[in-house]
Amino acid sequence: MRIFKNSAIVFAMTLSLSAPALAGSSTTSAEGDAEKGKEIAAGTCAGCHNPDGNSIIPTNPVLAGQHAAYTFKQLMEFKEGDDGEPAKRPNPIMAPMVAALSPEDMRDIAAYYAQQTPQTGISNKKGDDLLELGEIIYRGGNLENEVPACASCHSPNGNGLPPNYPRLAGQHADYTYAQLSAFDKNRKNDNEVMRLVVSRMSAREKRAVAEFITSLK
Ligand code: HEC
Ligand code: HEC
Repeated sequence: MRIFKNSAIVFAMTLSLSAPALAGSSTTSAEGDAEKGKEIAAGTCAGCHNPDGNSIIPTNPVLAGQHAAYTFKQLMEFKEGDDGEPAKRPNPIMAPMVAALSPEDMRDIAAYYAQQTPQTGISNKKGDDLLELGEIIYRGGNLENEVPACASCHSPNGNGLPPNYPRLAGQHADYTYAQLSAFDKNRKNDNEVMRLVVSRMSAREKRAVAEFITSLK
């Protein structure tokens, strides 16, 4: 596979990916009711993600400031299909959290978190070498094993590009690392994009880029 060899092609790929993903999620563009979302978030979610979505536990993601369309998509995909089809993003902690939520609830919650101001998450401060490697991969990828630049889809400052490309900036390093590992295992809700990206990365590269992402604002 040579599709990631230069950034122009990555961009072309990005654009060609956007169309089908958008078509499949046309209902996500409807705005949720952030006030209603706030109530649900305060009740069920706050214990692990904090009331405003700024989780202070490194394995629980920061949700504050995330694009609503992405959060909505994740909440839908933690859920099993009506016909018992397995969740696209199976997770034993989040599955029971979304079981009782309607799509409308999820849209409201997503609207609420999108409006909250994100705080910088927790990194493991593994030293400058690792951060430097992380920055190189984030901004330019690695030509040797054809890892694409993360910035080409998640933007140079890590803000992502709604509706399809999530915000990564400031996320806890342990959570990001766990997701980069999950795309190699059971997380299958990425239209095969992230699975291809991580299949080329070493554990050290995943750790490095995860630490660097926490430092983005
Ligand atoms: C017991 C702790 C706990 C509770 C309570 C909880 N979560 Fe989570 N949440 C997690 C963990 C752990 C993950 C990471 C799952 C993984 O590794 O894929 C997560 C992941 C998520 C994600 C994915 C974020 C991303 O960047 O992809 C969303 C969205 C989310 N939770 C929303 C909620 C909402 C909404 C509620 C309340 C209805 C809630 N959570 C309640 C622990 C919790
Ligand atoms: C071709 C576009 C593309 C490139 C390049 C790319 N990503 Fe992604 N990434 C995506 C998409 C699309 C998703 C959303 C998947 C979903 O809907 O669950 C995503 C999701 C993620 C997530 C999950 C976020 C969360 O909150 O759970 C992480 C972490 C991530 N990417 C990290 C990276 C890193 C690190 C790189 C560079 C090594 C990278 N991505 C390169 C498209 C891309």
